[in-house]
Amino acid sequence: MKTLLPGSTIGILGSGQLGRMLAHAARRMDYRTHVFTTQRNTPTGQVADLEIAASYDDLDAVRRFAEGVDVVTYEFENVPAQTAETCAQVVAVHPNVQALHVAQNRLREKEFFVQNDLPVTPFAAVDSLESLVAGLEHTGFPAVIKTAESRYDGKGQFKITLEEEIETAWEAAGHRSAILEGFVPYDRELSVVAARSVHGQFAHFGVIENHHRRHILDVSIAPAPVKAEIAEQAVGMARRILEALDVAGVLCVEFFLTGDSRLLVNEIAPRPHNSGHLTIEASVTSQFEQQLRAVCGLPLGDTAYLCPAAMVNLLGDLWRTGEPDWEALAHFPAVKLHLYGKREPRPGRKMGHLTALASTASEAVNRVISARRTLGGE
Ligand SMILES: Nc1ncnc2c1ncn2[C@@H]1O[C@H](COP(=O)(O)OP(=O)(O)OP(=O)(O)O)[C@@H](O)[C@H]1O
Ligand SMILES: [Mg+2]
Repeated sequence: MKTLLPGSTIGILGSGQLGRMLAHAARRMDYRTHVFTTQRNTPTGQVADLEIAASYDDLDAVRRFAEGVDVVTYEFENVPAQTAETCAQVVAVHPNVQALHVAQNRLREKEFFVQNDLPVTPFAAVDSLESLVAGLEHTGFPAVIKTAESRYDGKGQFKITLEEEIETAWEAAGHRSAILEGFVPYDRELSVVAARSVHGQFAHFGVIENHHRRHILDVSIAPAPVKAEIAEQAVGMARRILEALDVAGVLCVEFFLTGDSRLLVNEIAPRPHNSGHLTIEASVTSQFEQQLRAVCGLPLGDTAYLCPAAMVNLLGDLWRTGEPDWEALAHFPAVKLHLYGKREPRPGRKMGHLTALASTASEAVNRVISARRTLGGE
């Protein structure tokens, strides 16, 4: 693949905030962006040079989109396989279609981890009430049932703590192909956002600590307060994953760290990740510029942190009593506001985020949480 220089056009499948922040990075370096999406006036479309609104199943529209760009990347995993394959017949798709295929189905993903000797929580494939009962004998209680596909922000996940809850969980999961996982009593949740260039160069943003609320990411902190050997192991596993999938692009690995210092791989996302948003301010190169560099065949950028940082998400819940008090937020000079241009603030919907920099990670956390509190959040 030839190196794509400024002036080239990046095609983006999917149109949420991740595409928007990629388009920002692209615009700064004078790349053009075309976004393919099912809607109009989307977070990415508002920033891209061209927003193409069509169905992912409209393969003629997909082909025309691919013909108009120099490379295709995606910003969410639920891109239908046929859509990605149609693009790949016309132009390079990064990360490759195989990586997307593995990441978009939780069962395939777990099997990939096992094949690559990556430690995971006990799991079982479930496609009926009987197989769920059998699976629970393997995982034990508590366990979590998750639909195998259409996955994000904890949607389609149900915890099973008691035998009486089995049937309700199976109903709630919608009788669809699912995975049952042993619930991990973790000490911490961690992520590694890493990148690999077309030429095999590897770079990473170290280990980030994540706190979830209602299965949705709430706070991310970098650097994570873990021992050097844990950080090294996590980065090593991330590297193995990017190499095994032959990824050119950015990929995030989510981990659980258990009380006895064992890392378990939770899942991967073959794209920038919510936990990496803090790299926009905190790192020499942001995860979005890194994605751009990687898919364009450029060398990767420096991932060094300028200082510790923390990020909190702004969910639609904050809008419950009207528009948050942006003016109060402006009194936090070291807190950066990002809004995604979404017009409908639904509960649980990611509307934006805040990032704070500070001289220590705990100071950054305090700063960013107090800032969110002035907006009416907790
Ligand atoms: N097996 C498990 N044991 C303990 N907690 C879990 C388990 N699976 C999921 N969780 C919790 O739910 C969160 C979301 O789960 P997961 O990452 O699998 O789902 P997702 O829908 O892909 O979410 P996201 O898009 O936010 O990453 C996890 O970060 C963790 O806090
Ligand atoms: Mg997750």
